[in-house]
Amino acid sequence: MSRPMKFILTIAGFYALLKASGLLAGAQLPSSVVAMYMIFAVLTSLMVLTSSQDGARELAASFIGLFSDTRSLKTRVTVIVIMPVMAYYLISAAVTRDVSGIGQASGVMHPGPPLTISAYGKEFDLASVENPFRALERTDRARFEAFVKDGETIYFKRCVHCHGAKLDGAGQFAAFLNPGPVSFRGSDTIAQLQESYVFWRVVKGGRGLGARGAKSTSAMPAWEEELSEDDVWKTIMFLYDFTGNRPRAWKK
Ligand code: HEC
Repeated sequence: MSRPMKFILTIAGFYALLKASGLLAGAQLPSSVVAMYMIFAVLTSLMVLTSSQDGARELAASFIGLFSDTRSLKTRVTVIVIMPVMAYYLISAAVTRDVSGIGQASGVMHPGPPLTISAYGKEFDLASVENPFRALERTDRARFEAFVKDGETIYFKRCVHCHGAKLDGAGQFAAFLNPGPVSFRGSDTIAQLQESYVFWRVVKGGRGLGARGAKSTSAMPAWEEELSEDDVWKTIMFLYDFTGNRPRAWKK
């Protein structure tokens, strides 16, 4: 067998091995890891192949032969057809990955909330319920700020691990979650929402989305079991206060 052929088979074999180990383990290796190993495999094989004069010459000859020797017309055509197809496959795979990454970073979908939810032993009409502490912002600034401070304490105890210390969705668990935790920063996140919507999401969590089909794999907990109604509203006030956002007002 010629050396270049051995080289190609070694690379292909190594790739198959990486894929197979993923299948055996029950989870595919991340494509970035596979790419990294493959780069090492190619470089190492090239080094072995070109470590002897003969090997280097044979490799160069086979490349030159491919484009000058008329006898290898068939091989040449095969290579010229296969290369673009492989390039297309690699690029489209990379592009698909990128797009899903962007989707997680920004464009958060907000599924329609239910009309009412029952929690804390009563019914909340989501079209009209308001944050009971919001008015304090105008009437009693000191009390308002004390409640925001309470909300901050709750946030850093309960939410920070996923939603992050900067409220940017980059908490220490974020990398393991799909869908990832939502960022509350920027003018295109909670600023687009009424507080009642946020209340629903905090109280019912990912499970609340379940019946609506979307995001049934969400790790967002249903906080009604852990936090009192007042605590939820205080935490929501902190989310807006910290990020400098205003809740979207009801259209009058
Ligand atoms: C275990 C991780 C985790 C913890 C802890 C957590 N969240 Fe979440 N949260 C998520 C994930 C994941 C999403 C995105 C999926 C979804 O919408 O359900 C999310 C979504 C949300 C949303 C919806 C935002 C939107 O724009 O639709 C709100 C609001 C929210 N979280 C508030 C909180 C608050 C407040 C706390 C703390 C009391 C908290 N979360 C704790 C994981 C978490």
